Amino acid sequence: MSRVTTAESSFLKNFPDKRNSAAVSRRTFVSSALATVGLALAPRAALAEDCPVPVISAAGIPKFAPDSGLAIRERKRVSQLLPAEITRLRLAYQKLRELSQNDPTDPRGWKMQALIHNCYCGDSAEIHKTYFFLPWHRAFLYYHERILGKLIGDMSFALPCWDWDDLLQNHLPTIYGPLPAGNSLFDSNRAVNSFLPTLFISPSALTEAAMRQRTPDAFLGSDWVPSRRATGLLESGPHNGMHNWTTDGAFPDMGLNSTAALDPVFYAHHANVDRMWTKWLCQGGGRANPSSALFLNEEWVFFDENKNKVRITTRDVLNHETSLRYRYDCALPAAAAAGVAAPTTVTTIPLDGGPHSLSPAPKTFSVTPDPIQFAALIGARPELGATVFLEIEGIDIPANAAPLVNVFWSKTDANSTTSESDPAFVGLISNFATPLDHAHVHPKFDMLMEVTDRANALTIGAPVSITLAPTTFTALPPPAVPITYDAVRLRVAKLA
Ligand code: C2O
Repeated sequence: MSRVTTAESSFLKNFPDKRNSAAVSRRTFVSSALATVGLALAPRAALAEDCPVPVISAAGIPKFAPDSGLAIRERKRVSQLLPAEITRLRLAYQKLRELSQNDPTDPRGWKMQALIHNCYCGDSAEIHKTYFFLPWHRAFLYYHERILGKLIGDMSFALPCWDWDDLLQNHLPTIYGPLPAGNSLFDSNRAVNSFLPTLFISPSALTEAAMRQRTPDAFLGSDWVPSRRATGLLESGPHNGMHNWTTDGAFPDMGLNSTAALDPVFYAHHANVDRMWTKWLCQGGGRANPSSALFLNEEWVFFDENKNKVRITTRDVLNHETSLRYRYDCALPAAAAAGVAAPTTVTTIPLDGGPHSLSPAPKTFSVTPDPIQFAALIGARPELGATVFLEIEGIDIPANAAPLVNVFWSKTDANSTTSESDPAFVGLISNFATPLDHAHVHPKFDMLMEVTDRANALTIGAPVSITLAPTTFTALPPPAVPITYDAVRLRVAKLA
């Protein structure tokens, strides 16, 4: 369970009952009215004791047991659903919405499901920006999927995946749109443009940047520590990117973590995040989950399809085929559950000491490694378990802001219009906004981006140049969000 037990702030009892359907444009969002807008639209923080699930202690709650008799279901890509599967999906969300209306206290209903997600956002039990991000959402979706199955009397029901990793699916799936009238998958709190292809940000390129990572720290993120955490590139890249893009960087629903799970596309989005976790492991090359006991034994409480509380750990969800009874379009490798330890540092090469702030203009720093550093960089061979990370430490983004900052290697002319598909692209720094009065846990975070191949290709006497280029979803200039960071460095590390 969560390691922080501080008392929480107030909770707006009528959790997003009155949602503001007016789209807040990115321009409004960017303006100095940002904080005010955020507070006006956002539900307040959940009191731990107001959450339908206990977020502090799971004492006395029955433990998860696999539904071994259930045939393994395939979570398909949205673009491949058959008409009957679309009808079934729509019926399921219609039932979920009806349940919420008929009995607002039923923990399985639409709004209560969103509230459960909200309970793990920004407060003491925060699971975002840590390596708990992936297992927590996997467990949440598992029970959500079973609830939908129960509501339609069909436990073979499987969630679909919004397959934004596919270049051709870089827009909201049309089945989630306003037609037919009354479509239960539709949510009016989305940007008008979200059904059009993303032109100024590439979810498939963001996904590729995440998939290239070979270590769990860089891909999944790392441990929660009281003052700091590391965010993985899957979360910061396509995950935050598409949350924010769905609402064009504005607030409810998808753009704000306290309301995101009110939008049915949230679950298809997260099914794809979950699919990318599996596909990452399927690539092999030493990719594995973290082996730390802290990661494996973390435990959360959910409601099952029969309204019973159940506790479940990371370890329970790692093999989703055997324990959760679903699969994706690649077979989970047996080694996936084994786990690897965090790499140990061999050498660090400071690139930019801090603290520093980012303006909307791109910022480049160049450092020429000395001969010893150069040897370490070109000699770090993945086959010897050595990795070079670009490490950005102590990133601080206002909790309620959603800026995008692209990172490039050796591309000193990169700017806000340089595409993530550019070969020099390394990764995206971003945020998933939290209402200000919800953001009790708002530590700085670190990001690691693997640059081994690029470091191996350095030539003697040539500088390492890193460019941080703030960008946007539109042709407009990037917003002036006060982003600071403590340091940027290269870190040569070895797997223990
Ligand atoms: Cu809990 Cu996509 O967020």
